[in-house]
Amino acid sequence: MPLQTEGMVVKNGRIKSLYFILWIYCPAIANQIKPGQFVMLKVAEDRAPLLRRPFSVYKSYPVDHPEKRKRGYLIIMYKRVGKGTQKMTALKKGQKVELIGPLGNGFTLPPLPSSGNNILIGGGMGIVSLFSLTETLGGRNLSVFIGGKTRGDILCVDDFKKLNSKVLIATEDGSLGIRGTVVDLFFSQRKNFKRNEKYSVYACGPVGMLKALAKNVTLRNFTCQASLEARMGCGFGACWGCVVKTNHSKTPYQRVCKDGPVFRLEDIVWE
Ligand SMILES: Cc1cc2nc3c(=O)[nH]c(=O)nc-3n(C[C@H](O)[C@H](O)[C@H](O)COP(=O)(O)OP(=O)(O)OC[C@H]3O[C@@H](n4cnc5c(N)ncnc54)[C@H](O)[C@@H]3O)c2cc1C
Ligand code: FES
Repeated sequence: MPLQTEGMVVKNGRIKSLYFILWIYCPAIANQIKPGQFVMLKVAEDRAPLLRRPFSVYKSYPVDHPEKRKRGYLIIMYKRVGKGTQKMTALKKGQKVELIGPLGNGFTLPPLPSSGNNILIGGGMGIVSLFSLTETLGGRNLSVFIGGKTRGDILCVDDFKKLNSKVLIATEDGSLGIRGTVVDLFFSQRKNFKRNEKYSVYACGPVGMLKALAKNVTLRNFTCQASLEARMGCGFGACWGCVVKTNHSKTPYQRVCKDGPVFRLEDIVWE
């Protein structure tokens, strides 16, 4: 059940170039949020921007988390792209922020602990929303494909490596990993996938990336869930500003914020 609540900024700082990390103390949401769900954050105290902005939660620590010092925290990793995220960089320790969450459906998860072949594919900031899956999927049986335009856009590599995940990287300019897109990288590994095994793919990234993935993931032994990025007004299903076309016969237009953001990749109609 989404809550409209208040959190307190604990830390906010730059990781590198346009990328920042924000720690918020908000036990009410930290206790509930599941992988793939998101929050709508009021990024500044004044009126502009009026609309809250959607963010995935990179890490969350419910109040019974074994790491006692982090209990109640939500961590958001964000990229400064426009006026809202610019204002967000000015949030200071101790400042109160308004949040709505957890929102959206989240990923459908296998039973714990997962023993299958799990693959994460993240383009740009998309990798951030996939990290929270590692608690359920474990790190060891996880292959992680990370892509970005250039090496400065490649995020979270050390966090995945700490979990002993296999990490593969692609950059469009070839400055790190293979030259190409993360989807090119994924398909270059095709020979390593076995016909008689099942693979669960969890993907998040820009529309172009997901579209390219959808065109090619036609293998029967792959199931693919994708978290969609869309511009959002309300974030909770009221404004219909975030619709996506699907092949559901009764309700072809679905709201990314409420019916998603996670969809079966094969259900999306790419236009
Ligand atoms: C479910 C969900 C989870 C997200 N999680 C994260 C996250 O963890 N970290 C993060 O940095 N960003 C995330 N985003 C994207 C983030 O919401 C936008 O970057 C942010 O709203 C931009 O606000 P702004 O005012 O700075 O940009 P604006 O001034 O509103 O726009 C600046 C530029 O960014 C583009 N843009 C704005 N919003 C989006 C969007 N939703 N999708 C694609 N392009 C957009 C605009 O087209 C424009 O080119 C997420 C989006 C969604 C829908
Ligand atoms: S953002 Fe309002 S319905 Fe999705």
